[in-house]
Amino acid sequence: MFQMIFIGNRFNQIFCFLLLLINCSTGIGQEYGQHGMVVSSNKLASQVGIEILKKGGNAIDASIATAFALQVTHPEAGNIGGGGFLVFMNAKGQVTTIDFREKAALAANQKMFLNDKGQLMQDSNHESLLSVGVPGTVAGLFLAHQKYGTLAWKDLVQPAVNLAKNGFIMSWGLYRDAREIIALDTSNAFMKTYFNNSKGQLCKPGELWKQAALAKTLELIRDHGQDGFYKGFVANEIEDYMKKNGGIICKNDLERYKAIERPPVKGSFNDFEIYSMAPPSSGGVALIEMLNMMEFANFNTIPFNSTPYVHLVAEVMRRAFADRAEYLGDPDFNPDMPIHQLTSKEFAKKRFATIDLNKASSSDPLKFGHPYGGENTTHFSVVDKDGNAVSLTYTLEYSYGLRRGSEKLGFIFNNEMGDFNAVPGITNRFGQIGSSPNLIAPEKRMLSSMTPTIIAKNGRPYLIIGSPGGRTIINTVFQTVLNVLAYNMTLDQAIESMKIHHQWLPDFIVYEKNLLSPDTKTALESKGHQLIPVDNLGCLMGILYDEKLKVYTGVADSSSPDGAAIGY
Ligand code: GLY
Repeated sequence: MFQMIFIGNRFNQIFCFLLLLINCSTGIGQEYGQHGMVVSSNKLASQVGIEILKKGGNAIDASIATAFALQVTHPEAGNIGGGGFLVFMNAKGQVTTIDFREKAALAANQKMFLNDKGQLMQDSNHESLLSVGVPGTVAGLFLAHQKYGTLAWKDLVQPAVNLAKNGFIMSWGLYRDAREIIALDTSNAFMKTYFNNSKGQLCKPGELWKQAALAKTLELIRDHGQDGFYKGFVANEIEDYMKKNGGIICKNDLERYKAIERPPVKGSFNDFEIYSMAPPSSGGVALIEMLNMMEFANFNTIPFNSTPYVHLVAEVMRRAFADRAEYLGDPDFNPDMPIHQLTSKEFAKKRFATIDLNKASSSDPLKFGHPYGGENTTHFSVVDKDGNAVSLTYTLEYSYGLRRGSEKLGFIFNNEMGDFNAVPGITNRFGQIGSSPNLIAPEKRMLSSMTPTIIAKNGRPYLIIGSPGGRTIINTVFQTVLNVLAYNMTLDQAIESMKIHHQWLPDFIVYEKNLLSPDTKTALESKGHQLIPVDNLGCLMGILYDEKLKVYTGVADSSSPDGAAIGY
């Protein structure tokens, strides 16, 4: 639906508010919590997190329990076979992050996905066992617990063990996924039985779905912490499976994996402080660069969802994504990345000055760009009674990752190696990118777009937000933040409103098809943009602090079939 919001005088603000009420009447509303809130893509997992908060656990404890629960109840992206990032702001306003991104195996190399002619072997970086990165999730959650957790580790893993062992009711969303996956690849033996019930048949909606092998893996993690995954039975089985099926991850890779605590990237937008994930995610740097550029915009002349809005936002995205492609990669392999420059106001001013408000710029196809694969990932946001907040995004890369795993372990492997630049030196207008910061090297972390973010006001968490969606993550988080901070939307309005995506190359604007008017589309085309409709962008899970009511509002994006905000 076409939404138009005028920022300006009082009359206009009332008018926009009324329009928003009309346009968002299909929204999913907000949940309220005075003492805490968990918002995730699965109601059972949110419930696990809330129970931990009620038992006196802090936001880190609740996040660990929620993350393990999502492995069981949201296996599309909830994972122990993948990796991700956690941003933590404590009640004193101090912020840190945990990087548990997957890394390349020791035996990985720049040419591993190329044929004799130096060309990418089709889909090998997403479809073969070589596409599995060394998983980081268990190490990341364990490090978060060691440094900042308060409850016993075993009590945080146990709810996930219970869900896997005792089962939970199969939802229609999961059932639909199961049918689609099985129909898509009938030769995939692992996925064919993955969703089975105890009678060996596909579990139907309303039936209990138990995951016995996964329960055993989780018990090992519960009893032995990080070592329960990176050593012993699980590590042996991963190595065995890889050897038998053409993968390269070995026990040494697993034993050497370390999650890393890193400082956040920090920026500001008017009076708000922005904290987000530093490389190896590109999300935080690009988000801050875009918000910095938007500070130079005159919002009085840019009604939300108008032609000037879409044009400007797309041009800002184009520039940030070009910089992302040129400069960003794993910081441990690229010590000289110009992060400070890219997130500075002076740089944004120069970048903004290159935008022609009447005409689309051209993305230079001879330089850089990127396809926007990686559709699935999941985000959750947590806040506790003391005001500690966690913003966590983790992923298997594709929906259900590689769709392969060991039946003895019961979890799915990621295909995250696809996030590296696969063909050195080749960048083209189709979005292939070959710049050096993100080329494959042994033990290197692949560049991510995950953007777990905490926005603070007066030193306390104000907006906790993130999304799945591959490269679209950065832009959907960016627009949601802008909707709240610049367009004064409530959180459900901000999440449900129209989103666009531009990533420099390929050079087009992707837009949510039912939310942009035909007139606006035509006007944008006359400025030189090419537009591509999609059903939906992003699946945001957020928490906003209502300063007047002194209450947290939580919103799970209505595009999430099983998502839920639960407060208390
Ligand atoms: N696999 C999606 C991302 O890390 O951006």
